[in-house]
Amino acid sequence: MRISVIGCGYLGAVHAAGLAALGHDVVGIDVDAEKVARLAAGEAPFYEPGLAGLLAAATGSLRFTTDPAAAAGCTVHFICVGTPQRPGENAADVSHVETALEMLMPCLDPGDVVVGKSTVPVGTAEALLAELQALRPGVALVWNPEFLREGHAVHDTLHPDRLVLGLAADGTADHARTVLREVYARPIAEGAPVVETDLATAQLVKAAANSFLATKISFINAMAEVCEASGGDVVRLAEAIGHDARIGHRFLGAGLGFGGGCLPKDIRGFMARAGELGADQALAFLAEVDAINLRRRVRMVDLAREECGGSIVGRRIAILGAAFKPESDDVRDSPALSVAAQMSLQGAEVVVTDPQAIDNARRRWPELKYAFTAEEAATGADLVLLLTEWREYVDLDPHELGAVVHQRRVLDGRNALDPARWRAAGWGYRALGRPATAGVS
Ligand code: UDX
Repeated sequence: MRISVIGCGYLGAVHAAGLAALGHDVVGIDVDAEKVARLAAGEAPFYEPGLAGLLAAATGSLRFTTDPAAAAGCTVHFICVGTPQRPGENAADVSHVETALEMLMPCLDPGDVVVGKSTVPVGTAEALLAELQALRPGVALVWNPEFLREGHAVHDTLHPDRLVLGLAADGTADHARTVLREVYARPIAEGAPVVETDLATAQLVKAAANSFLATKISFINAMAEVCEASGGDVVRLAEAIGHDARIGHRFLGAGLGFGGGCLPKDIRGFMARAGELGADQALAFLAEVDAINLRRRVRMVDLAREECGGSIVGRRIAILGAAFKPESDDVRDSPALSVAAQMSLQGAEVVVTDPQAIDNARRRWPELKYAFTAEEAATGADLVLLLTEWREYVDLDPHELGAVVHQRRVLDGRNALDPARWRAAGWGYRALGRPATAGVS
């Protein structure tokens, strides 16, 4: 099938390469000439494991361009542009989605299918459909939300755990269903469940899924706050409640909380949209989910201050991790960088390191100091903070790192280190939601 993908960011670039790997003839279109040039050269413009391999394997059936006219002749058009939070508001900015459709209009022929993948406030798809019906009758619109996780995007694209097809009630549904089932023939044959819905439900599914995940993380972080107040240990608590199959262990990792380009802005956008719809009470709890999440960052700075004897002014602090999560170079709303910036503003000498995200972090916070290795960052440090649980940091040898620091004190912002191992190497170990003696047998 000939497919165009509009928007080649974390979602679109992987989606375009994934569709080519599934056997389609794909053109990726983006306004960013530098990004397009790198993709066209077979180079991943951001760190995503497996993407470079997918780009290399797809040559011939995959190209990238800044020319919107390249969408002409394609029968399926995926909209994969960003919907960032509007500055100073909770609501999402859907202007890129609207522009993408405008850009596509001259290339659309009857029988084509426009597929929305971007995360949008419910009601956006209906407005796009009205435009299509007015200007391009016979073109179908489907809402097909994307659930990929950064760091696992290639796997999630090729082997989705479900496919949601939001179909319009305008007589195009049968055709659109047939086309989308052909696009995703391979994952469907592998057993990926297909859930067909109306347009509104498909848009809500994405907001609901991300709200649930955010709530689960903030739930365990709320328990961490109670543990801190009562002497409990949130890691053991999560382990215990997670054995209940109805609760499960996943997304019960207490620590610095969630960040990134999706969860924080999606729960805020969802609240804003519910407010517009007169259903604000239904999602009032998400304001608390957000507040719990942001409090963890403040608590991390407070814990660092406690460990430094009441003041961080002039203290050298090593921060391991800048990306919002491991296996990504994405620093959008990164909890690690938020803590680093707060500590720097409060007078600490902060040195940040990350295996992949230093360039992005430097662009966002040029005033922070950066180091290329954990050893370099930790040299002379009064305190080491693990804030993004990259494997190479979790596996660090506490004896070796202990040889370069000024004081052997570590704060584990992700409950990812083995306290016994670090204590045995002479380190003071503290973590969020755990008593000072956690891990002492
Ligand atoms: C998320 C959704 O998982 C994905 O389905 C959707 O398409 C986009 O948003 P992503 O932002 O890539 O994906 O990251 P995710 O793996 O969900 O992690 C989000 C944040 O939660 C990270 O900052 C992570 O560190 C944090 N997290 C995750 C926790 O703090 N504790 C956990 O137990 C799990």
